[in-house]
Parts: sequence; structure tokens; C-alpha cells
Amino acid sequence: MIRVGIVGASGYTSSELIRLIIQHPDDIRITVITSESYTGEHVSRVMPNLRGLLDLEFESLDIASLKERVDFVFLAVPHKVAMSFAPRILEQGLRVIDFSADYRLVDAEIYEAWYKTEHTSPEWLSEAVYGLPELHRDEIRNARLVANPGCYPTGAILASAPLIAHRLVHLAGIVVDAKSGISGAGSKPSLATHFPNREGNVTAYNVAQHRHTPEIEQELSRVAGTPIQLNFTPHLMPMTRGILSTVYFALVENITTEALLEIYSEYYADEPFVRVLEQGQYPQTHAVYGSNYCDVGLEVDMRTRRVVVMSAIDNLVKGASGAALQNLNIIAGLQETAGLDAPGIMP
Ligand SMILES: NC(=O)c1ccc[n+]([C@@H]2O[C@H](COP(=O)([O-])OP(=O)(O)OC[C@H]3O[C@@H](n4cnc5c(N)ncnc54)[C@H](OP(=O)(O)O)[C@@H]3O)[C@@H](O)[C@H]2O)c1
Repeated sequence: MIRVGIVGASGYTSSELIRLIIQHPDDIRITVITSESYTGEHVSRVMPNLRGLLDLEFESLDIASLKERVDFVFLAVPHKVAMSFAPRILEQGLRVIDFSADYRLVDAEIYEAWYKTEHTSPEWLSEAVYGLPELHRDEIRNARLVANPGCYPTGAILASAPLIAHRLVHLAGIVVDAKSGISGAGSKPSLATHFPNREGNVTAYNVAQHRHTPEIEQELSRVAGTPIQLNFTPHLMPMTRGILSTVYFALVENITTEALLEIYSEYYADEPFVRVLEQGQYPQTHAVYGSNYCDVGLEVDMRTRRVVVMSAIDNLVKGASGAALQNLNIIAGLQETAGLDAPGIMP
């Protein structure tokens, strides 16, 4: 039996994590769920879909008591809050899968510049493993601290890695244009996420300054073996879930769509959750809704000698909780796909 605790369990990513874990075929038990806002309330008060399926109450976080009650802790709290808890949990010998950005960037100075806050436990940065199995599976296996990737970076990195690894594109001038559903902003309402402001409306935001930029750059630089800087423009869409990323690259030499699709299929041949679409098929968020799949498609524009690569993920699954469960499966030595290989929900 594997016992897991979820900190910040009243939020959107936790809701999805709980839904996935209670359907997991192995004996994974959720033994602790914490919430400061709903302490003492039954889980179904916040997540009515769990009524009759999980008999647990939210409790206030008590780090000292975790050691006796859990083996793994998922931190599904905002950045800054995560690093205020993680070191004390790790010091008890527990393994941590952190959903926040606090341990994703290896360089504390870059973190501090983009997140405009001091990193309070930089000593854990070298130990943390960036939790994208498609790039770091072997390191994840033995990780004590997994930095679960951001949602936009997951889509952008999976769309880009094969081209960069095979040195088929120029590394300058890469453009990532991404569209996200509103659940990406979490469950706390704001003016920007308020229904009347979002319904029927599309806007770019944090242009040239979104905090996921250095994360995408870090991971693609690792693939390239040389530093990469790129333009990343996120957009909010009038939908609840999903991210469609469209990434533009200048090709080093002429190559056909067909040949590139073959390269992608080979690169992801052993990846259970990356589906390379056939020629003429493009990813759509509906096809991955509620699932851990990342669909990837592409098209070469011979006129401009560019390739346009598209990826679709569900931000709450492959972009957060599905990836976290995939990481738990890897660390715990379970089948990597266990509890995650269901198709998405089409309308
Ligand atoms: N949403 C996404 O698509 C997505 C994707 C990838 C990664 N992430 C990351 O995953 C984490 C959770 O995101 P989310 O979308 O689930 O957010 P959310 O819906 O806003 O939930 C955040 C949770 O954190 C708790 N929390 C907030 N401030 C806290 C504090 N000061 N101390 C203790 N707990 C606090 C809240 O619980 P109580 O107030 O009930 O205690 C809530 O349960 C974030 O770091 C986010 O950046 C999100």
C-alpha cells in the first residue's frame, strides 16, 4: 500500500489528482488532505463528484504528523507557499512531488528575477528533478523531490524537443504561441477570470514576461546543449480546460512534413502519453480533455522554410495532476501508465 497526502487539496489540480488516484488500479490510499479554508469539511463539500467515493475530511496542515501517516506528499499550493513547506517535509524522509514553480528552475537567481521573491531553500534546487518523464525518467526514479512541470512548458517542450534534439531548426527566433483554458489560473476567482470578462473573449496576457518562459528555455536548452531564448505568448481562451500550443521554427534545411512526422514518431515511440498525429491531422484540446495524453502534429511551410508544430494537453492532467501521478508511478515502481491510460472525454 502506498499512502499519499495532498497539501492544498481544495484546489483544481488536487481535485483532478484525487479523481485519478481513486481510480488507480494499485493500492494507493489518500490518507491526508489539507485545506486551511475548508478544515473539518467533508471532501464532497468542495468536490461533489467524489460523493460516496472518498470518505475524508480536510484538515489543517500539520507537518510533524505527516511522517506517521503518508509515504508521499503532493504539494498543490502556490509558489512561495510550497517552498515554505517542502524542506520540513523532505527532512522527515518523505518524498515530495511539488506542483508549484519553486523547484523547477535550477538557478535560484533566475527564479528570483522572474518570481520577484527570494528563494528560501536554494539548497534543494540541485536535488530537485524536473518531472517531465519524457526528458528525465531515469532521474525521476530516484528523486526525493520532483518539481512537477508547469502546464504551458509541458505542451511547449513536448512540441519542440524532437526538432531541437535532431538539430533541424535554428535556435534563434523560436516562437511559442499558446492558448489556455481558465482553470490554468486556479480556483481563486479574479477579475481576469470572472465569467463575464472571459465568456466569448480572447486575450493575450503577460506578453514577454510570463514566468513559464525561463522554464521552457531551461528545458529546451538542456535538449539543445546550448542556451536558448524564445518568445512565449500565452492567451486565455473562453474554455475551462486545455492548452493548445503552436510553436514556430525556422528550418535549417528543407525537409518534408512526412519526414518530420517520422522523426517525431521515432522520438516518442516509447512514450505512452505522447501521440504523434498523422499528416494533415492537428491536435485539438477536446481530444485530450480529462486525459494524460499530449497530442502533437506539425506542418512544414516550404514557402517560408518554417515548421509549425502544435501540441494539445489538458492543463489539469498532463499539465499537472496526471504528470504528478505518472511521476509517482515511476518512483514507486508501478506501471507508468497505471490509472492514466483512459481516453479523453469528447463532447
Ligand atoms: N491549474 C493548473 O492548470 C496548474 C497546472 C500546473 C501547475 N499548477 C500549479 O499547481 C499548484 C496548485 O494549482 P491549482 O490550480 O490547483 O490552484 P488552486 O485551485 O488555487 O488551489 C491552490 C490550493 O492551495 C491552497 N493554498 C493557497 N494559499 C495557501 C497558503 N498560503 N497556505 C496553504 N495553502 C494554501 C488552497 O487551499 P486552502 O485555501 O483551502 O487551504 C488551495 O487548495 C500551483 O502552484 C499552480 O501554479 C497549476
